[in-house]
Formats: sequence, C-alpha cells, structure tokens
Amino acid sequence: MPNDKVIIFDTTLRDGEQSAGIGLTTHEKMEIAKQLDRLGVDVIEAGFAASSPGDFEAVQAIAREVRRPIIASLARCVLPDVDAAWGAIKDAAHPRIHVFISSSDVQIMHQLRRNPEEVMEMAIAAVERAKSYCDDVEFSPMDATRTDMDFLYKMLEGVIAAGANTINIPDTVGYIYPWEFRERLRLIKENVSNFDQAVLSVHCHNDLGQAVSNSLAAVVEGARQVEGCINGLGERAGNAALEEVIMGLETRKDLYKVDTNIDTRQIYRTSRLVSDITGFAVQPNKAIVGANAFRHASGIHQDGILKERSTFEIMDPQSIGWPNNKLVLGKLSGRAGLRSRLEELGYNLEKEALNEAFEEFKLLADRKPEVTDTDLESLMSSQRRTVDVPSIYQLEHVQVSCGNREIPTATITIIDPDGRSITDAATGTGPVDAVYKAINRMVNVPNKLTEYRVDAVTEGIDALGDVTIRIEKDNKAYVGRGSDVDIIVASAKAYMNALNRLLATESTRPAAEVPTS
Ligand code: KIV
Ligand code: ZN
Repeated sequence: MPNDKVIIFDTTLRDGEQSAGIGLTTHEKMEIAKQLDRLGVDVIEAGFAASSPGDFEAVQAIAREVRRPIIASLARCVLPDVDAAWGAIKDAAHPRIHVFISSSDVQIMHQLRRNPEEVMEMAIAAVERAKSYCDDVEFSPMDATRTDMDFLYKMLEGVIAAGANTINIPDTVGYIYPWEFRERLRLIKENVSNFDQAVLSVHCHNDLGQAVSNSLAAVVEGARQVEGCINGLGERAGNAALEEVIMGLETRKDLYKVDTNIDTRQIYRTSRLVSDITGFAVQPNKAIVGANAFRHASGIHQDGILKERSTFEIMDPQSIGWPNNKLVLGKLSGRAGLRSRLEELGYNLEKEALNEAFEEFKLLADRKPEVTDTDLESLMSSQRRTVDVPSIYQLEHVQVSCGNREIPTATITIIDPDGRSITDAATGTGPVDAVYKAINRMVNVPNKLTEYRVDAVTEGIDALGDVTIRIEKDNKAYVGRGSDVDIIVASAKAYMNALNRLLATESTRPAAEVPTS
C-alpha cells in the first residue's frame, strides 16, 4: 500500500511576515512564492488580505501568477474579512479561504470580549460565507491547545458541518509538549463525530522550542497537513521550521511512513532566498540549513566521514541542494562559462540580465581571483535587490579616510531621483557612521539605525562582506542589504537599499510594525 501524503502548508508570507521587523514588498513576496512553488509546497498562505491594501495586492498577485499550489488567504471570522480574502484569491487556480477565531477562555474573555456562544456563531457564519465562495475552506480555533475540550469538539463539529474541509489545530502560544499534543489530537479524533470529513492539520509555534517535535508527533497521530515557515520564521519565537519537518519525515520514513510532494533539493536555495529577502540570518548551528549543519570539525568525525559518509551523516547534503562550493570561475572566464554555471545553480537569465551579471562578475573577479558558487549566489542576490527595491537614489562613489589617529571622514556621491549627481562629506565616530551621516545630509530622511550586521559570504581574506541593517522610522522597520569585498562600501549599499525601501514603501503600504511591548 502506498504511504499517505502529508500536505505541506507554507505560511512564510503570512505568519512569517508577522515576525517583528519584516516588511516585504509585493515583488519580494512573489519571488518567495515562486521559489516555494519550485520547492513543491502544496499550499502557500500568501497573506491576510483584509489586513492592509499591500497584503491584498500581494495575495492577489500571487494568486494570479503562481498556478500549481493552493493559494490561501487568512481571514478573521468576520464577513468583510472573508469577502476580502475571496476578492484577493478568486483568480487563483486553486483558491483556499482560511478562517480563524479565538477558542480559549482567556482569549475569548479578554481579547474578543464575547461569550462562547457568540464565538461559535461567528465561526459557523464565517465558514458558511467562505464556502459560498469556494469549496476549499480551512478553519483554525486559535489557541486550541489551551481551549476547553468540550467546547473545541462542539466548535469543530459545527464548522465541519458548515463546510470546512481542513481543521487546523494551532498551538498558538507554543505551550504544549508532544505527548500532550498527541493526546489532545487523539481525543479530537474520538469525540468530533464528523471528524472523518476533514483533513487534520497542525500549526505549531516555537515558544518552548517544541514546534517541530509537536508537528511530527501530530503526524504520528494522523495529521495530514503540517503548517510552518521556512527557517522557522513567524510570530515571536516563530513557527515550525518547514525544512526540519520535511527532512524529519524524509530521513525517518521508517518511523513516519508518509510521503510529501517536496523536492528536497530546493530546500537550501529556499532557505537562502528567504534569509536574504527578510534579512533574518540563519544561525550557523541551525538544523538542515545552518552553515555548520554538514561541517565536521572533530578529527574522529572527519576520519569517519572520509571512510564512510553514513558514519556521522544521517542526510546527504546534496539531497537538500547544498552547494559544493568548488572553485568555479576566475578572471579569465567568459560569458558562456558564467551563464552555464548560473544555470547549474538554477538561474536562467535573459540576455540583458546576463549582461548585467557578467559586468558585476568581472568587477568581482578583478578584486577576488577565485569566484565560488557562494560568491555567485551573493552576486545574484545583489542584482535581485535592485529589482525588488526601486533605486530611487543610487550610490555612485564612496571614499573614506580613517585610522587610529584620524577623524573618520566619508565623501559620498549619489544620483538623486532627477538623475543629478550630488556629493557631500561628513565625519563620524567611525567610517560607517561617517558614510551614513554623509548620505543623510543628501537624502534627508530622519531614521534610526537599529541593527547592523556584517557576515562574510565566503572564507578567506578576500571574502565578500554581506551587510544587513535595519532602520526605523515612525515605528516601522525597513531592512537593507549590500555586498562588496569592501565592507564600508557594502555598508553604504545596505543603507541606500534600506532608504530606498523606506521611500518606496512609505507611500504605498504599511511596513513591518515594530512591537511596542
Ligand atoms: O498561531 C495561530 O493560531 C495562527 C492562526 C491564525 C492559524 O497563526
Ligand atoms: Zn501562527
């Protein structure tokens, strides 16, 4: 008998985007959605259409363009939300409306300030409304793991009867442990009379570090949809990291005996793309996708690996698309060599984009003789940034003088929105501060720098430096990234990227809210 399939439901663009400090443009969301499609996820929750015009626009754009997976929009159990969700996804090849409402006493009493009967009525009315639009309706009782069980049974029975075909049990506050979760799910199966008419789904948060374990325990108990985010993004401590759930199911098929539709070779690339676009770094020791996940430091382990890989490796790095990072190109490599290597990495560029990439590649190869796959990935992500975020101001020239007995001074030239070249200079406490002050004198958008990080993209003294910054204005955060072999230039590029994002998004859509508590 074939194994059951587990539906992989990705909510990186909805719950993931709720992470404090993430605010994505529609273009960036579209890029992530297309990569999730390549990864093979079954459902993409593209956003929460009623929450803002920007979210509506992004959900609608993804629904129209990404045709294989189910495209879902979240909606509260209020009719205008359900209408907005449908408005955004109605052009999808496979639309889904996902409605949710609080079900625990504490949330019903203190947040909704209603009584349980009213909540039940709202849930049923919302499912009925959603069902009037589309056949695929998911229902989530928020805070289900702290909800009175009898109320939960009644609520689930009611929404299934009203037409919900997926019932999702969220551990909204990341409170439960795997054995308790299994027991709750077992009781739900036993006590919800029409349970067999819906797919059981779970959505686990990671406040106590159990999100992946709870999700996998739920699969053992019969869950056939798992929700999560790439790199474990999401509210507070995040959601179940989908790459961990997927590789858990894959590596321990002997235990779980289920299949997914995922092309695991796309995992690494998806993780990098999400990290690059959101500016949320992946910790080096993170399971599956961390930089050290397949690195063996101890001599005994290295010896074992050389003799037989499976002595210390339970997964083949190639199976998640880990780059082999061989030396690939150098100063004398031509356009055809670059194109063919980029194609092997999954980038099929049109002529103009290839020409631009080649120009950048030549500049890089002049300064860094050994260009690796990781350098190329970084180069492609820099190119993407200029497409994702309009270059309202462009950085033209950076010159800095600094030293232990110098006052750090930066002279910067930028091209303004009218195409004029302007130059100004400033001093600062350090070279980066001087650069940012010089740029501020010309761009003149008050903001606060809240995060500044430099990562080396590759090893060695000539490594590309990748700078990630976050700036805040009016309680909203904007990420900026820049790469260069010179980290001061990379810092200037990152700042311009953040300022351009701020200027571009400020007038069109709300950016990420900075939590006030
Ligand atoms: O964590 C949660 O309860 C949610 C629901 C909206 C599914 O994100
Ligand atoms: Zn959630």
